[in-house]
Amino acid sequence: MAHVIAVVNQKGGVGKTATVANVAWELVAQGHSCLAVDLDPQGSLTISLGFDPDELAGQTIYEGMVLPPDHPQHRRLQPLPVELTGLALIPANLDLA
Ligand SMILES: Nc1ncnc2c1ncn2[C@@H]1O[C@H](COP(=O)(O)OP(=O)(O)OP(=O)(O)O)[C@@H](O)[C@H]1O
Ligand SMILES: [Mg+2]
Repeated sequence: MAHVIAVVNQKGGVGKTATVANVAWELVAQGHSCLAVDLDPQGSLTISLGFDPDELAGQTIYEGMVLPPDHPQHRRLQPLPVELTGLALIPANLDLA
Protein backbone atom coordinates (compact mmCIF):
# COMPACT_ATOMS: atom_id res chain seq x y z
CA MET A 1 0.00 0.00 0.00
CA ALA A 2 1.31 3.45 -0.93
CA HIS A 3 1.88 6.14 1.67
CA VAL A 4 2.11 9.85 1.03
CA ILE A 5 4.47 11.90 3.17
CA ALA A 6 4.18 15.68 2.80
CA VAL A 7 6.90 17.97 4.14
CA VAL A 8 5.35 21.41 4.46
CA ASN A 9 6.24 24.51 6.46
CA GLN A 10 5.47 28.13 5.67
CA LYS A 11 8.80 29.24 7.11
CA GLY A 12 11.72 29.33 4.68
CA GLY A 13 15.09 27.71 5.19
CA VAL A 14 14.06 25.25 7.88
CA GLY A 15 15.23 22.08 6.13
CA LYS A 16 12.18 20.95 4.15
CA THR A 17 14.10 20.12 0.99
CA ALA A 18 16.97 18.49 2.87
CA THR A 19 14.47 16.38 4.82
CA VAL A 20 12.69 15.20 1.66
CA ALA A 21 15.92 14.28 -0.13
CA ASN A 22 17.30 12.34 2.84
CA VAL A 23 14.07 10.58 3.78
CA ALA A 24 13.58 9.59 0.12
CA TRP A 25 17.11 8.19 -0.14
CA GLU A 26 16.69 6.27 3.10
CA LEU A 27 13.36 4.79 2.00
CA VAL A 28 15.03 3.52 -1.18
CA ALA A 29 17.97 2.20 0.86
CA GLN A 30 15.48 0.23 2.93
CA GLY A 31 14.05 -1.35 -0.23
CA HIS A 32 10.96 0.78 -0.75
CA SER A 33 9.96 2.36 -4.03
CA CYS A 34 9.88 6.10 -3.66
CA LEU A 35 8.55 8.85 -5.90
CA ALA A 36 9.71 12.31 -4.87
CA VAL A 37 7.47 15.17 -5.95
CA ASP A 38 8.87 18.71 -5.95
CA LEU A 39 6.09 21.19 -5.15
CA ASP A 40 8.30 24.26 -4.82
CA PRO A 41 8.67 26.65 -7.78
CA GLN A 42 12.27 27.25 -6.65
CA GLY A 43 12.92 23.66 -7.74
CA SER A 44 15.43 23.06 -4.94
CA LEU A 45 14.65 19.36 -4.68
CA THR A 46 14.87 19.05 -8.46
CA ILE A 47 18.30 20.73 -8.36
CA SER A 48 19.52 18.70 -5.40
CA LEU A 49 18.64 15.50 -7.25
CA GLY A 50 20.79 16.57 -10.19
CA PHE A 51 18.47 18.26 -12.65
CA ASP A 52 18.31 21.75 -14.12
CA PRO A 53 14.73 23.03 -13.65
CA ASP A 54 15.14 25.40 -16.60
CA GLU A 55 15.62 22.41 -18.91
CA LEU A 56 12.42 20.70 -17.81
CA ALA A 57 9.80 22.97 -19.35
CA GLY A 58 6.64 21.00 -20.07
CA GLN A 59 7.63 18.02 -17.88
CA THR A 60 6.90 19.29 -14.37
CA ILE A 61 4.29 19.00 -11.66
CA TYR A 62 2.80 22.21 -13.04
CA GLU A 63 1.67 20.45 -16.21
CA GLY A 64 0.43 17.55 -14.09
CA MET A 65 -1.76 19.96 -12.18
CA VAL A 66 -3.16 22.10 -14.98
CA LEU A 67 -3.48 19.84 -18.01
CA PRO A 68 -6.57 17.67 -18.37
CA PRO A 69 -5.71 13.93 -18.24
CA ASP A 70 -6.56 13.41 -21.92
CA HIS A 71 -4.21 16.19 -23.07
CA PRO A 72 -1.52 14.81 -25.46
CA GLN A 73 1.23 16.47 -23.41
CA HIS A 74 0.43 14.12 -20.50
CA ARG A 75 2.43 11.43 -22.29
CA ARG A 76 5.58 13.44 -21.54
CA LEU A 77 4.83 13.52 -17.84
CA GLN A 78 6.93 10.57 -16.78
CA PRO A 79 8.81 10.64 -13.46
CA LEU A 80 12.52 11.21 -14.01
CA PRO A 81 14.89 8.44 -12.88
CA VAL A 82 17.43 9.89 -10.44
CA GLU A 83 20.91 8.62 -11.22
CA LEU A 84 22.50 6.24 -8.69
CA THR A 85 19.67 6.50 -6.17
CA GLY A 86 16.77 4.35 -7.40
CA LEU A 87 14.54 7.35 -6.79
CA ALA A 88 12.02 8.76 -9.21
CA LEU A 89 11.27 12.47 -9.34
CA ILE A 90 8.45 14.63 -10.57
CA PRO A 91 10.28 17.94 -10.90
CA ALA A 92 9.20 21.55 -10.47
CA ASN A 93 10.35 24.86 -11.89
CA LEU A 94 9.22 28.49 -11.91
CA ASP A 95 6.16 27.66 -14.01
CA LEU A 96 4.56 26.52 -10.75
CA ALA A 97 4.66 30.09 -9.42
N1 LIG B 1 19.61 18.95 9.74
C1 LIG B 1 20.33 19.97 9.27
N2 LIG B 1 21.45 20.38 9.89
C2 LIG B 1 22.18 21.42 9.42
N3 LIG B 1 21.87 22.11 8.31
C3 LIG B 1 20.76 21.76 7.67
C4 LIG B 1 19.93 20.67 8.10
N4 LIG B 1 18.87 20.56 7.24
C5 LIG B 1 19.06 21.53 6.33
N5 LIG B 1 20.18 22.23 6.57
C6 LIG B 1 20.69 23.37 5.78
O1 LIG B 1 19.80 24.45 5.97
C7 LIG B 1 19.62 25.18 4.75
C8 LIG B 1 18.17 25.22 4.38
O2 LIG B 1 17.74 23.88 4.13
P1 LIG B 1 16.63 23.57 3.04
O3 LIG B 1 17.00 24.18 1.74
O4 LIG B 1 16.40 22.09 3.07
O5 LIG B 1 15.40 24.35 3.68
P2 LIG B 1 13.96 24.62 3.05
O6 LIG B 1 13.01 24.70 4.19
O7 LIG B 1 13.66 23.63 1.98
O8 LIG B 1 14.20 26.06 2.40
P3 LIG B 1 13.22 26.85 1.40
O9 LIG B 1 12.15 27.45 2.27
O10 LIG B 1 14.11 27.87 0.76
O11 LIG B 1 12.64 25.86 0.44
C9 LIG B 1 20.48 24.48 3.70
O12 LIG B 1 21.72 25.16 3.60
C10 LIG B 1 20.65 23.08 4.28
O13 LIG B 1 21.84 22.47 3.83
MG1 LIG C 1 13.15 23.97 -0.02
